[in-house]
Amino acid sequence: MCGIVGYIGTKPAREIVIKGLKRLEYRGYDSAGLAIVNGETKIFKCKGRVADLEEMVNQTDFNGTIGMGHTRWATHGEPNELNAHPQVSHKGNFVVVHNGIIENYALIKKHLQTRGIQFNSQTDTEVLANLIEHLYLEGDLTAEQAISLALNRVEGAYGLVIICTKETDRLFAARKGSPLVIGVGEGENFIASDATPIVEHTQRVIYLKDDDIAIVKRDELILKNIRPGRREPEVKQVDLKIGEIDKEGFAHFMLKEINEQPRAIHDTFRGRVLPDHSGIMLGGLHSVLETISQSERIIIVACGTSWHAGLLGEYLFEEYTRIPVEVEYASEFRYRDPIIRKGDIVIAISQSGETADTLAAVKLAKEKGAIVLGICNVVGSSIPRETNAGVYTHAGPEIGVASTKAFTTQVTVLAMMAFEIGFLKGIISSEKYKMLIDELVSIPQKIEKALKMNDQVFELATKYQQTRNALYLGRGFLFPVALEGALKLKEISYIHAEGYPAAEMKHGPIALIDENMPVVVVATKDDTYEKIISNIQEIKARKGNVIAIVTEGDELIKRMADFVLEVPETLPAFSAILAVIPLQLLSYHIAVLRGCNVDQPRNLAKSVTVE
Ligand code: G6P
Repeated sequence: MCGIVGYIGTKPAREIVIKGLKRLEYRGYDSAGLAIVNGETKIFKCKGRVADLEEMVNQTDFNGTIGMGHTRWATHGEPNELNAHPQVSHKGNFVVVHNGIIENYALIKKHLQTRGIQFNSQTDTEVLANLIEHLYLEGDLTAEQAISLALNRVEGAYGLVIICTKETDRLFAARKGSPLVIGVGEGENFIASDATPIVEHTQRVIYLKDDDIAIVKRDELILKNIRPGRREPEVKQVDLKIGEIDKEGFAHFMLKEINEQPRAIHDTFRGRVLPDHSGIMLGGLHSVLETISQSERIIIVACGTSWHAGLLGEYLFEEYTRIPVEVEYASEFRYRDPIIRKGDIVIAISQSGETADTLAAVKLAKEKGAIVLGICNVVGSSIPRETNAGVYTHAGPEIGVASTKAFTTQVTVLAMMAFEIGFLKGIISSEKYKMLIDELVSIPQKIEKALKMNDQVFELATKYQQTRNALYLGRGFLFPVALEGALKLKEISYIHAEGYPAAEMKHGPIALIDENMPVVVVATKDDTYEKIISNIQEIKARKGNVIAIVTEGDELIKRMADFVLEVPETLPAFSAILAVIPLQLLSYHIAVLRGCNVDQPRNLAKSVTVE
C-alpha cells in the first residue's frame, strides 16, 4: 500500500529517492518522508505528496549517498507529519520505513511503555523501530541480529528498509507479505516496493521472499532468512522500459492507459494465438489444462475491478466450457470456511498480484487442496509465485489508481482460457473456435475506433459533470460493464453511482429515477437487446436521462435515448471490452472537469496490500 525506495551508492541519494517515490506514489500519497545519511542521519517528513516533500528538502543542502524514502497510505494513525515515515526509535538508533501492518503492535507497545519507552506517533512502525532498538541495546546485539530477532516477534505483514545510525555503511531490507525488490547496480544498490523506480538505473533485480532479510551495502549484498540460514540471491532481469512508466504526453496516466488498450490487448494474445487462428496456446496453463477441462467447478476470487472481470469470467466459462463457476470477493472467501472439493479450480485475478485479500484467498485455497491459477499483470509478484499455474496479462505497468487496461486484458485472458478449454472439451467446434479467435484478433482495431469518440464523450461529460448520482444498467455480459462503469465514476470523481442488472431496476432503483437522474444503459446488440429496450422505455416513462452505449448504426435506441455513444459491432464474448471504453473515458473527463486528482483519487491506493 505504501511505497518504499532505498539507495546506497556513490551518487546523491536525495534525488534518486525522491524520483523513485514519485514513481511509487500510486501506492499511497497521504504523507511522505525521507532519511539521508551523511555522517548524521537527517529526516524530512510532511503531510501530503512527494512534491511537497521535495519542496521541503530543496530548502536545505543536506545530501548524502545513502537514503531511503516512503510515500504513505495511512493504516494506523491519521495522515500527518508525526505519523509519516521514516519512524525513528526512542534513542535514535534505528530509522524505519514500512509497508504493511504489524498486527500485534499494541501488545508490544504496552510492553515497551512499561520499560519507559515513549512514543510520538500512533503508528505500528514506530513500535517496530523501538522493539528493534530495545533488543539491540538490551542484548548488546548487532543491528542485523536485533532486526532478525524483532521480526521473529512480530505478526503481520511488512516490507521494510531500515537504517541503523551506528552502522551506516548498509541498509537493511526485509519482507513478509509486502513486496520488496532489490536493484543490483555497479557500486550501488537500490531497494523499492516494485521495480518501477529501479529500472532506470538497472535491469538486474532480486525479488525478496517472505522472511528474507537483506544486508545491502554499496558493493555487497547478503541475503539471509530471519531464521538462521543464508540464501543465494537469484538475480533476475526485468523487462520494463522507462517509457512504459512515463505519461508519454498524456495529461494523466489513466488517459494514457485507456489509450494503450489496443496495444495492451494485442500483447495479451500475441504469441498465444496460432498464426492461422486455428488455436490458442496459453503456455502457463499447459501443465493443468487437462485437469481444468475435467474439473466440475471453478471459483474465481478477486477484488475491485478484477472482481468485475471475474464476473465476466463466470459468463465466459459457463457459456464456452459448461463448467459451473462461482465468483467470490477474496475478502469474503478467505474468512469463511469455503467448501473446496477435490479437483476444484480456484482462479485468482489481480492486476498487481499483491492484493492482500486475494493473496490470502490463494493461500487458503491451496491449503484446502484446490488447483490454484493466477491471472496477474505484474510479473514476479506474490500471487503468481504462490499459484500452481497461470497467465500473465502483459498489459504493462498500470499506474493510474482506477484500473482500465488491466480490466480489458484480464477479460481477454479469461476469454482465451474459456475458448481453449471449450475446444479441448469439444464444446466449441473448430469452425467456431476459429471464428472466436478471428474476432479476438480484431479487437485492438475496434478499440482504436471506439477511442475516436473521445470528443463526443467529453461533450457528454461537460453536460453531466455536476450530477450527484448516476445509475448504470446492463444485462448478461454487459451487467459487469455497468458495475465497472459505476465504479470508475465513484473512484475518481466522487459521484455516487450504482451498477445494476437492468431487470433488477424494477426492484428498487426505479424509485430513484426522475428528470435529474442520468441512467447509463449499456445496450450493445446481443441476446438481451430486446429486453433492454423495454428497460429504456421504463426509464423514459419516468423522465430519466438515458445515456446509451450502443452498437454502431443502432437507430432504434438513438430515437429513444438522450445521448448515444456507439461502439463497433462484436461478438457477445467481447462486448464488455468494447462497451467499457466510453465508460472509462466518461469517468475520466467528468473527474478532470470537476478538478479531481484522476491518477491519485482520495483515500484509494493502487495496490491494497493490507486486508
Ligand atoms: C484497488 C485498486 C483497484 C483494483 C483493486 C484490486 O482497490 O484501486 O483499481 O481493482 O485494488 O487490485 P488488484 O491489483 O488485485 O487487481
